[in-house]
Amino acid sequence: MNERNDDDGRPPRQTHTKVVTAGRDPAAYHGFVNPPVYHASTVLYPNAEDFLAHRARYQYGRRGTPTTEALEAAIRELEGPQCASVALLPSGLAAISAALLAVVQSGDHLLVTDSVYAPTRNFCNQVLSRLGVTTTYFDPLIGGGIAELIQPNTRAVFVESPGSLTFEMQDIGAIAAAAHAKEALVVMDNTWASPLYFRALDHGVDLSIQAGTKYIGGHSDVMLGMVSANGATTTRLRNTVFLSGWCVGPDDVYLGHRGLRTLAVRLARHHQSALAVARWLEQRPEVLRLLHPAHESHPGHALWKRDFTGASGLFSVVLKPVPQKAVFAFLDTLELFGIGASWGGYESLAIPFDCAALRTATQWAPGGPTVRFHIGLEAVEDLIADLERGFAAMAVAAHHR
Ligand SMILES: Cc1ncc(COP(=O)(O)O)c(C=O)c1O
Repeated sequence: MNERNDDDGRPPRQTHTKVVTAGRDPAAYHGFVNPPVYHASTVLYPNAEDFLAHRARYQYGRRGTPTTEALEAAIRELEGPQCASVALLPSGLAAISAALLAVVQSGDHLLVTDSVYAPTRNFCNQVLSRLGVTTTYFDPLIGGGIAELIQPNTRAVFVESPGSLTFEMQDIGAIAAAAHAKEALVVMDNTWASPLYFRALDHGVDLSIQAGTKYIGGHSDVMLGMVSANGATTTRLRNTVFLSGWCVGPDDVYLGHRGLRTLAVRLARHHQSALAVARWLEQRPEVLRLLHPAHESHPGHALWKRDFTGASGLFSVVLKPVPQKAVFAFLDTLELFGIGASWGGYESLAIPFDCAALRTATQWAPGGPTVRFHIGLEAVEDLIADLERGFAAMAVAAHHR
């Protein structure tokens, strides 16, 4: 296998190809297709002088191994030419905290979307607040209007598009332009789309975060996070991760690497199946509204179409008002949809949620109970049959008061 640059005169490789080739160097590993899993702390130096001068390709397990470098290089290539470095972290939330700690200092102010993943909010409110960093939450639909909220000490704007429970689409280009005009950075949780469907750094994002736990791992068997930095943030990110001592166990890095190779086909299937299930749900009398940005009915559909090249398998629905026990009967009857946190694995999930109490800048009043679905890789017909059984159980529960 030969490494190839995109600027060698031949047409650039397609993303589906890059997902297979990025970060691989079989010649360096005796021809084996995949990188070896280095379980490593100590690296031995040939002599004392080299040790004191740090003269070695690898210096210490925490500072990187061929295993970690392979995954970092692969993600870097998928992020595109704006990506200067990638850091691996032990979970998606750790990637979020690392990215934020890389950019803030005491006295700084952060702007965070009101639709943000709740643990990100908790980190800002309960950890960054102790370090003298204040946070203001903003309407996810604010777009370029963010300019009015930027204060002289606003260091960064944190976006998540779409919001991973409520699916508001954000105008990342407009937010980035406004933020950069006032010297604030943009940090994005890009887990929903991954760099395959939204190359965040190309749209003005300075630090792009993935919970690798979700689609990159892809099999619900690993906790992993990653942060991709552009030229403006790479030094800060690298220093923060290095000085803090964060690193990821080699087996988990390997699982990320292994999951990545099938990401493009899995995402394409998640996209297709989730839209098919969403279209079926839309027709159901029990459903008030779909919250799926790739569906034409979504208020953020035009932004999704403008900026994204695909959709993953995660979306929500608002049900017409029914008692909570009827929603529980629906969920508890489903056999193919597990009830549990996370998403991005091969299997389908469904959870009830209510984020009204979390919001501080906007009101969340959808008009009925809300359920989030993750559509896995099962046959759509079977998923629909399962949902049909769930709705039948919901009707029975709703009528037995
Ligand atoms: C949007 C989003 N970001 C980040 C995370 C955190 O990832 P992890 O569970 O790996 O910490 C999650 C987890 O559910 C998530 O949904």
